[in-house]
Parts: sequence; structure tokens; C-alpha cells
Amino acid sequence: MSAAPTPEQTPEQTQEQSPQPSPEVLAAFEAAKGFMPVREGLALYAAAVEAGRLGLPLLEVGTYCGRSTILLADAARAAGTVAVTVDHHRGSEEQQPGWEYHDPAVVDPEVGLMDTLPTFRRTLHAAGLEDHVIAVVGRSPQVARVWAGRVGLVFIDGGHTDEHATNDYEGWAPCVAEGGLLVVHDVFPDPADGGQAPYRIYLRALESGAFTEVSVTDSLRVLRRTAPGI
Ligand SMILES: C[S@@+](CC[C@H](N)C(=O)[O-])C[C@H]1O[C@@H](n2cnc3c(N)ncnc32)[C@H](O)[C@@H]1O
Repeated sequence: MSAAPTPEQTPEQTQEQSPQPSPEVLAAFEAAKGFMPVREGLALYAAAVEAGRLGLPLLEVGTYCGRSTILLADAARAAGTVAVTVDHHRGSEEQQPGWEYHDPAVVDPEVGLMDTLPTFRRTLHAAGLEDHVIAVVGRSPQVARVWAGRVGLVFIDGGHTDEHATNDYEGWAPCVAEGGLLVVHDVFPDPADGGQAPYRIYLRALESGAFTEVSVTDSLRVLRRTAPGI
């Protein structure tokens, strides 16, 4: 990803000069089950390539079936680092039976609960990226409490309630290294477009003074750590 936009460029314009995934990786991303549109995926990929230059792990909260993980894994492979992706694999509130984003194909019939882990593993295998990902199965706040290291990028795409988004922000934003990136998905300033919890943590990051906005692509916000703080 190129540096922060010059005064003549909007954040959207900088994306045109950003690194792109190979056609094979893009095809794997598009074929994967998940929620991320291509435009946002390309912005995430560009952020991951840039953050990869720090040589630190790239961390995702909210694996689901691995759609966005493919992009982080490919950027990690290129940088000689690793993508770490955290999920309990039981689905968010809006993915449970009877809700808008439920997919019966990812219910484990034996236990009667969602289990996206098998689909995630098939996704990564098909993309040839298994060796570049550490998958952590667990609840984000519990994992964050035992996580000790700095990371080059944190991508927050987990639970979308205030409780979950706040936990993800407070648990993982402190791990972003100086110069590293904090990426938040599903940021909707207008409540008519979607839930407000990701928007609220995005505002907290900006108001902390530790993060500066780098790019805006639809609902995906990329922020850089430019000061210590949270
Ligand atoms: C919107 S989906 C992630 C979509 C994925 N990034 C993609 O590109 O398709 C949200 C995921 O977050 C997970 N999740 C929700 N709350 C969580 C929590 N507290 N800890 C770990 N994972 C959580 C859910 O199980 C679900 O798989």
C-alpha cells in the first residue's frame, strides 16, 4: 500500500495504486464463503501487504470460513510472517438459526451448533495457504488476555454487538506496533446502513490520539498507529 494520501489524493484514490493479490488468490477469495465484498477485500489486502513490512504477525478477529483470512495469509506469506486468526467458530448473533446471516450448511448436525472450522480449513487448503496461518479457536477476549506480542496489523471483524466490538478493540488495539495498522470492518456512520458498534470503536481509536486514518473503502477503515496510547 502506498503511503498516506497526499493533500491532492482522497483515501479512495490511493487504493488504485495499491498492491493487488494474484489472480489465483483473488479467485480463492471470491470462491470462499463469507461476507467481505471484493472492493473491501482489496483494501484489506493492501493494508496487510503494507503492514507485513514490519515483519510482525497479521492478526484477524473473526475468521468465519476464511474468506478474509486468505488475503491476510497471502500478504503474510509474501512478507515471511504469519497470519493469526481468532474465532470460536460458533457464529455471531446474526448468524444463528432464524437470523439474517444464518447458513444451515455450517451447522454441525451432531452437536446442533454452528461450526465454521471445517469449512475454514477446506478454504485454506484449497487456497494453498495452510502453512501461513495460525488458527486460534477461542473467544477473542480470552485469547487477547494470553496474547503477549506486538502485531503489524489487527483486523477486527468479530462480533458486532457493543460488548464484542469493545472487547475486541480493548483486547487487540494495544497490540498494534508503532507504524502498524488497525483495520475495522462494517463501520457505518449512518445507522440506516448498519449496526453502530464497529463505528463506535473506530471513533474511539481516532479519539485516543494513537491512531490516524489511512483509508476508507466502503465500510472498511484502515488506521495507522502514529502514537503510543491504548
Ligand atoms: C462477520 S464474521 C467474520 C467474517 C470473515 N472475516 C469473512 O471475511 O468472511 C464474524 C465471526 O466472528 C466470530 N465471533 C463473534 N464473536 C466472537 C468472539 N467473542 N470471539 C471469537 N470469535 C467471535 C463469529 O463466530 C464469526 O465467525
